[in-house]
Amino acid sequence: MLDNKNIIITGAGSGIGRATSLLASQYGANLVCVDLSDAVQETVAEVVKQGGKAIALQADVSKEADAAAYVQACVDEYGRLDGIYANAGVVGGGKPMLELTVEDWQRTLGINTIGVFLAVKQTVPIFTAQGSGAIVCTASVAGLRANAGGVDYSASKAGVISIAQTVAYQLYGTGVRINAICPGLIETGMTKPAFDRAKERGTEERIGQINPARRHGQPAEIGEMACFLLSDRASYVNGQAIPVDGGLSASHPWVFPKQ
Ligand SMILES: NC(=O)c1ccc[n+]([C@@H]2O[C@H](COP(=O)([O-])OP(=O)(O)OC[C@H]3O[C@@H](n4cnc5c(N)ncnc54)[C@H](O)[C@@H]3O)[C@@H](O)[C@H]2O)c1
Repeated sequence: MLDNKNIIITGAGSGIGRATSLLASQYGANLVCVDLSDAVQETVAEVVKQGGKAIALQADVSKEADAAAYVQACVDEYGRLDGIYANAGVVGGGKPMLELTVEDWQRTLGINTIGVFLAVKQTVPIFTAQGSGAIVCTASVAGLRANAGGVDYSASKAGVISIAQTVAYQLYGTGVRINAICPGLIETGMTKPAFDRAKERGTEERIGQINPARRHGQPAEIGEMACFLLSDRASYVNGQAIPVDGGLSASHPWVFPKQ
């Protein structure tokens, strides 16, 4: 599906980014794996161990010079760039609304939203010049409706959805596509504290029960969608925010049935 595609994946040191790196490599892609954390080295080691090609780059997606550097690294290593999965993100201030500071907001928006914009800004000149390219971003069901995160996190993800919609039209007629994925609850580094708390309370079997799939998701279930959207098989999918959430966002509010 991704044979000979050169792809950048951010947030590749953990969770969804790591799982997507392993899958994209299995589908034939050559990778630049980007993360703030040196855990990205482990991801690259796993990709190489399974026979794939990847290089690691420690970078902060919220910094423009770092975004320029990961794009340059891909061009230097592989001679071409075909796609980017702008996936790095943080959970946000994680505080009650009225305790959130301007600094909390700036950090959340800087990584989750501006980080995605910088991925767009640094890759689009290359993509438009070659007449092709696929941009995939990780938004969240929190960007669609309430009750899936704090206000800074949710607004940052609504911003990602808006970037996908707006940029798709800014790229009118260029052959470049952009889409966002809206994951539901996925077991990753980001959600580990919630899973750990539930395990301590003995309530882990209740996690994810409010969606019709009656479970939480695994990182690779998001990775499959990311690989599809990065590939030419998704050639007519553009400007969309696609939930991958077990059906969670399909419903109006409802009463959970007594078990
Ligand atoms: N886990 C979920 O339930 C869930 C749900 C919806 C959306 N998401 C989104 O999925 C994406 C991936 O998160 P995850 O769940 O795999 O979490 P995770 O914490 O396991 O992985 C996120 C990775 O992003 C990296 N990162 C954070 N800030 C960075 C920065 N400034 N520059 C570069 N890398 C940075 C972290 O080091 C980490 O390796 C995020 O955008 C998150 O908001 C997650």
